[in-house]
Amino acid sequence: MDHFLYKNGELYAEDVAVREIAAQVGTPFYLYSTATLTRHYSLFKDALAGLDNLVCFAVKSNSNQAVLRHLGNLGAGMDVVSGGEYARARAAGVDGSKIVFSGVGKTRAEMRTVLEGGIRQFNVESEPELAVLSEVAQSLGVTAPITIRVNPDVDAKTHEKIATGKSENKFGIPIARAREVYAYAASLPAIDVIGVDVHIGSQLTDLAPFELAYNKVADLTRALRTDGHNIRRLDLGGGLGIPYERSNSAPPLPVEYGALIKRCVGDLGVEVEIEPGRLISGNAGILVSEVIYVKSGEGRDFLILDAAMNDLIRPAMYGAWHDIIPVIEAEAAAEQRPYDVVGPVCETGDTFAKARNLPKLVAGDLVAFRSAGAYGAVMSSEYNTRPLIPEVLVKDDQFSVIRKRPEFDEIINRDIVPEWL
Ligand code: LLP
Repeated sequence: MDHFLYKNGELYAEDVAVREIAAQVGTPFYLYSTATLTRHYSLFKDALAGLDNLVCFAVKSNSNQAVLRHLGNLGAGMDVVSGGEYARARAAGVDGSKIVFSGVGKTRAEMRTVLEGGIRQFNVESEPELAVLSEVAQSLGVTAPITIRVNPDVDAKTHEKIATGKSENKFGIPIARAREVYAYAASLPAIDVIGVDVHIGSQLTDLAPFELAYNKVADLTRALRTDGHNIRRLDLGGGLGIPYERSNSAPPLPVEYGALIKRCVGDLGVEVEIEPGRLISGNAGILVSEVIYVKSGEGRDFLILDAAMNDLIRPAMYGAWHDIIPVIEAEAAAEQRPYDVVGPVCETGDTFAKARNLPKLVAGDLVAFRSAGAYGAVMSSEYNTRPLIPEVLVKDDQFSVIRKRPEFDEIINRDIVPEWL
């Protein structure tokens, strides 16, 4: 459920008409709902009630500081994967003690920044990383709290580009070698082993792979305790999927996911962390765009929008589906027709949808892409020198621009033409 609903024949974000925001901000833009962020964060909190837990929002899914501030105010921790994301989370007011640092290629400079600024834990992904982290921590006279990310060799049954838990993926250390690597970690001078981490992929629409992975992690926890490690925290990653195609999908609910977590690890007496991104931010955002032209092609009509693949790359990159709806609600009896929905960028990949059934649309009409709050704005680029589009946040009947559209000068003045040219 989200807070983008039709009222009086037009699309609203909470209590604000999307059309009004478009008139003030100009299209295209991302639009987020505070109430939806709250709702989805709360679903996880409720699902984990009874367990000592921290829900760490995956900042990579939506890193706008206003979004982070809101979730931080609700009590969320943050999962970051770069020095930049760490800086954003801190700037949004999140304390280091609630930030976990994930990622397969942390640099010395990032480790230093994070150790100095405060960190809940590093999720370490390899032996070389362990060695470097110990060295960096020692040079600062501190110890680094860590979990080790294990790769459970489980098929997440999701898109191959976002599956991470198979042995052929670059992530984590093979679970079969975990005890050996934990022994190595414990032997290092500036490492404090506190737990185990796992993340098997994103947009999972089946709970079975989670169950397989979490049971393996539970077994490993028992074995590590026998080996003398004080395992007191499990980071179970993110990955729960959302219904991108609403008429045709019903992924598992957070409450079912929470019950599964309790079943698998509830008797271990550990603190549980999860790192959801998409399920919190995905349906809390839409992308609003205007139809520039409707062009008749060979056997099809093209809906040419002012948004393009540089603004929302998921369809081009993963063949992803996003529901597209008109901002002015169509009559219930209105005839639908198939459109190829495309952007203005100069490549055929700049196609959002093929033969998508939509009510008749004309130039100047507004459309909204649903489920665009996760991996939308964060993955956008200035390809074709198209400015990054604004982000807007709604709360009840108020809205604010939380990232403004840059002027062309701001973009082109970043280039430096050498004097010798
Ligand atoms: N934790 C780790 C270590 C991750 O790598 C990820 C996502 C998450 C948590 C959050 O997963 P979520 O709950 O959002 O599924 N750009 C792709 C998704 C990439 C996901 C990468 N890792 C997309 O647009 O589908």
